[in-house]
Amino acid sequence: MSAQSVTAAQPAGHETPVILGGVRGGPNKKTLRTDRWWLQPLATASGLLVFVVYATWAAFQNANYYVGPAMHRDYLSPLYSPCLAQNCKYVWGPVLGSWWSISPAIAVLIFPLGLRLTCYYYRKAYYRSYWGSPPACAVADAHRSYTGETRFPLILQNAHRWFFYIGAIFAGINIFDAVAAFRGFSGGIGMGLGTLILCINGVLLSLYTISCHSCRHLLGGQLRSFHTHRIRYWLWDKITPLNKHHMLFAWLSLFWVAFTDLYIRLVAAGWIHDPRFF
Ligand code: FES
Repeated sequence: MSAQSVTAAQPAGHETPVILGGVRGGPNKKTLRTDRWWLQPLATASGLLVFVVYATWAAFQNANYYVGPAMHRDYLSPLYSPCLAQNCKYVWGPVLGSWWSISPAIAVLIFPLGLRLTCYYYRKAYYRSYWGSPPACAVADAHRSYTGETRFPLILQNAHRWFFYIGAIFAGINIFDAVAAFRGFSGGIGMGLGTLILCINGVLLSLYTISCHSCRHLLGGQLRSFHTHRIRYWLWDKITPLNKHHMLFAWLSLFWVAFTDLYIRLVAAGWIHDPRFF
């Protein structure tokens, strides 16, 4: 579309020229904003980069991801859970045989990664901070054309609801790992600082998953009438306030997954001691 000048409806003598189809902020400026609008995309890009670098490094380590009976603990890093390869230190189920010789984390990370990559919040975050499309409100897009998510590869973002189903299973698995961490010295119940960290991890991942837009849609978003779906309405009503905080849960759960892995890694390597509460 070629640029077209119109005037906004205002009292005579106070018309504001608006450029349609041109660069927002005026023909020669990227934006009229004078605040430090670039701070947020910069912080987002930095936070995501730190996580990706750490998670990639940790996933390829293939060591120190499990604190087991030798230390009277039962802590499995969330980056390696569920551990499905025969070469795991703590085998959930030997789905992958002895032919799998690389890190077991590589086999499972694709699923939580797919959930986060296609997440509506993260899309906004990385479209803005890495792709500049647009970098912030009222700042010119870094690209001349815009096709939305109608073409390959971005059309694959529509797979999000399927990743949500898998993400819900993974949230359940992380809760199971947190419960397993209560295992005591000789079959009884015990609790260490690592147990608490794994519990918080399970709660944050669950909050991130159930506050997902696809979850809200699944529960009641697509209904024409709540009148005949009382239970789904009740669930939808309870999920909606969580959905408003999805961005917060996205960051907290992302940070805590990395922190949990780091804590277990340091305990497993013998760098720090895990205090036992009982
Ligand atoms: S997990 Fe973020 S929108 Fe679904």
